[in-house]
Amino acid sequence: MRKQIAAANWKMNLSYQEGEQLLDAILNSGIALSGNRFAVFAVPAPYLAMAKSKMANHPNFYVAAQNMYSKKSGAFTGEISAPMLVSLGIDHVIIGHSERREYFNESNELLAEKVKIALEHNITPIFCCGEALPVREANEQNSFVSTQLQESLFSLTAEELQKVVIAYEPIWAIGTGKTASSEQAQEMHQHIRNEIAAKYGKEIAETISILYGGSVKANNAKEIFGKPDVDGGLVGGASLIADEFNQILSGLK
Ligand code: 13P
Repeated sequence: MRKQIAAANWKMNLSYQEGEQLLDAILNSGIALSGNRFAVFAVPAPYLAMAKSKMANHPNFYVAAQNMYSKKSGAFTGEISAPMLVSLGIDHVIIGHSERREYFNESNELLAEKVKIALEHNITPIFCCGEALPVREANEQNSFVSTQLQESLFSLTAEELQKVVIAYEPIWAIGTGKTASSEQAQEMHQHIRNEIAAKYGKEIAETISILYGGSVKANNAKEIFGKPDVDGGLVGGASLIADEFNQILSGLK
């Protein structure tokens, strides 16, 4: 069975101390994950080492960076490189979140470079895709997401692609409280899997975890995660509340 993942994206929230308290509350709640069920915490960069040390005795709990630059080192003030993440033992990174695309002008081409460099360093990219409201209203979401996949992922080899986690996050559902229906999520996830199958074959497509993101909460996670092509979620607001996130974790298949 594919990996089922609940990934917390804290975005630019919480102080260091609040972050510690939140992780302690989740990890000490007695929740344990095994087999194919995983938790990933994408924390702000200054908290990566702290979060990593807290996961030490918790199998299937991982830490992710929220972003990473496309170059290995050099005069790029303020950026974080793949080798830096490796040196902290961080093995996941969110690539291409819609907020990075929108506010920091990250293009499909740049994201292709970021995915590639993450993979070269054995860091799992959680690659985000998804359409804005006008695209959905024009019923062009499938071709829009297809282009994102083609331009950022489809120059990878099959072996490389199998190490990528995809997160479908419709922009109109992020932070709005307006979640896609589980049917809408399933429809797009199936489309993404079909696109991968068309390019790499059905067998490869069946191995790729595709997460849904956009107003996932304790009260809707189980239904959304229950859909056949949904392999968990990428969670913003609700991941900042221990009880909420614990319930989301327990909604994994
Ligand atoms: P919300 O869960 O707050 O809608 O955010 C989703 C998201 O952007 C996760 O990356």
